[in-house]
Amino acid sequence: MIRKIGISTGGGDCPGLNAVIRAIVRAAKLHYRWDVIGIEDGFDGLIYARNLKLLELRDISGILHRGGTILGTTNRGNPFKHTVEENGQEVIKDLTPQILENIKVLGLDAIITIGGDGTLTIARDLHKLGVNIVGVPKTIDNDLSATDLTFGFTTAVDTATEALDKLHTTAESHHRVMVVEVMGRDAGWIAIESGIAGGADVILIPEIPFDLDKVAQKIKRRQITGSRFSIVVVAEGAIPEGGKKSIVAEANEEYQNVRLGGIGYFVGHELEKRTGIDTRVVVLGHLQRGGSPNAFDRILATRFGAMAADLVAAGKFGHMVCIKGRKIESVTIDKAIGLMNRVDPNGQMVYCAEQMGIEFGRPYA
Ligand code: F6P
Repeated sequence: MIRKIGISTGGGDCPGLNAVIRAIVRAAKLHYRWDVIGIEDGFDGLIYARNLKLLELRDISGILHRGGTILGTTNRGNPFKHTVEENGQEVIKDLTPQILENIKVLGLDAIITIGGDGTLTIARDLHKLGVNIVGVPKTIDNDLSATDLTFGFTTAVDTATEALDKLHTTAESHHRVMVVEVMGRDAGWIAIESGIAGGADVILIPEIPFDLDKVAQKIKRRQITGSRFSIVVVAEGAIPEGGKKSIVAEANEEYQNVRLGGIGYFVGHELEKRTGIDTRVVVLGHLQRGGSPNAFDRILATRFGAMAADLVAAGKFGHMVCIKGRKIESVTIDKAIGLMNRVDPNGQMVYCAEQMGIEFGRPYA
């Protein structure tokens, strides 16, 4: 029997998180008559039982279209390996006993957590400890293979496409090469989709290591045939042939992902050197994570939130919601995590882009 649930958002934010929160609260209160507690800043809010708030309908009014998350989030702070200060020294501790205790004290019958691979892994492990937990997958990179799509992704593609449209006009006026770095750590979905939508000439993705000479040749060919500008889209995780990802900061115990950055500047510098064409670099960065979700993402987020409430009602703990084709379904979190959805270098999307003359910089065979 469910009476009270908690909601938290973890990992990097993305457009549509508030729409999921709103959908869960509405389904919980209007359909199931449950109380809902908002947990702030991912699992930190449960570890320290701080800033917990009973969410009423008025608290989620007007948030459907708002970017970010009203609950706050963090992509640090794994409760199993939490950094705490003891006698002036930083030590790593397992703080899950505190979470279990707080769940009891607060009377939470279930928790719905919205997050990416890192957050879902923690959710899976908490479920193993007996926590009634349900997951909602989230990442603008769209790199989880258990779901055909994640909310926030198509909004990020819209943002990148709009930027490409704007950069096209200035690149054309100045006869320049414009390199645009977009997000995508391991999967080039934002790069390939915005690149096709924005009419890019070159798309560089993590799945296809690229040869810069091949890219430079493409740009020079365009120059000779009268197209005196070029648009190059590069995913942050793209890798030059025989090289490595551009890493700004290494991962550590608390922050599980390396921080990427710099590939756009590297590519821009090298292309200017090899083509002699004036080149500029734009890094879209967190612009892609902010702002209002588009209609598609609002609907997907709402359907995910409603289904998450249904999973709680059905006692399907340790599951997360997903979309398969046009249907919202569920899958065990254990099956879902760690399985990446990457662009197939020989798949339809790349083939279509190549038919349009887009260069991926595939090394010569
Ligand atoms: O995983 C989503 C993502 O947006 C990646 O594309 C990017 O590398 C990362 O998050 C950036 O996260 P942070 O918020 O730590 O800068």
